[in-house]
Amino acid sequence: VQDGSLIPRFGRARRDETLAVLEGFHPLKHALRFGAEVLEVACRDTRELDALAESLAPDVRERMCELAQAVDPAVFDKLVPLPPTTGVVSLARRPAVDVVAAISDSREAPVVVLENPRDLGNMGACVRVAAAADAAAVITTGSHDPWHPDALRGGAGLHFALAVARAPDLREPADRARDYARELIALDPDGEDLEPSRLPARAMLAFGSERDGASEELLARADRRVRIPMRAGVSSLNLATSVAAVLFAWRLSGPARG
Ligand SMILES: C[S@@+](CC[C@H](N)C(=O)[O-])C[C@H]1O[C@@H](n2cnc3c(N)ncnc32)[C@H](O)[C@@H]1O
Repeated sequence: VQDGSLIPRFGRARRDETLAVLEGFHPLKHALRFGAEVLEVACRDTRELDALAESLAPDVRERMCELAQAVDPAVFDKLVPLPPTTGVVSLARRPAVDVVAAISDSREAPVVVLENPRDLGNMGACVRVAAAADAAAVITTGSHDPWHPDALRGGAGLHFALAVARAPDLREPADRARDYARELIALDPDGEDLEPSRLPARAMLAFGSERDGASEELLARADRRVRIPMRAGVSSLNLATSVAAVLFAWRLSGPARG
């Protein structure tokens, strides 16, 4: 691909639901590590990329360097709105993720549902911690795409490590929770206190949106509501922080999870 044609190619990719735009080194590293089909790697300087790969990702260095194409700095700066300081941007194919298949996953691992999240960086941070805790899936509702480049950046590309999908609304995941014997637990500052040992491995853990919290529909459908106890006077935790607290409360309370 010629340097000049990369600009429209990256521009179109941002609107293409079959592609993922990876801004920076870490999203590319995780994409390669977790088996993504990477189509394009454009960098400012192949030697700098090689040095980064050698120190931070020797396991995928060879593949990264095979794919890397050095482009004119003036072109590189126009590939994405905020060129990353690591000097590399890439395109990968998004895996086709089926919401029902993700929920029916038979592993002893929870599914995270984010109800109408509004902040793309927050969505990415939720994916990142869900991948770290080895959750089965992150399912979002609402208009924001969890595979948006900003969410991929916030998630360091860990979208490729677990199922990440958007459902049209809460009905689909909530109905499927019942079909696949997952207890639907709403995280809500007005719920009962979190007892980590009472979090089932196959729970569906549902979190409300940043401003409005859990919807009436979520609270009505939930089997129970759980709160993360906080110091008096603090009204709530940030969305991604609360996902992290609950997933790691679950992970650290059960049998050793590797
Ligand atoms: C930023 S909070 C929403 C705050 C919102 N104003 C409210 O009153 O719920 C986003 C989501 O994080 C979760 N969350 C935050 N703090 C929590 C806590 N202490 N206990 C349980 N869930 C919490 C909830 O799912 C909440 O809907």
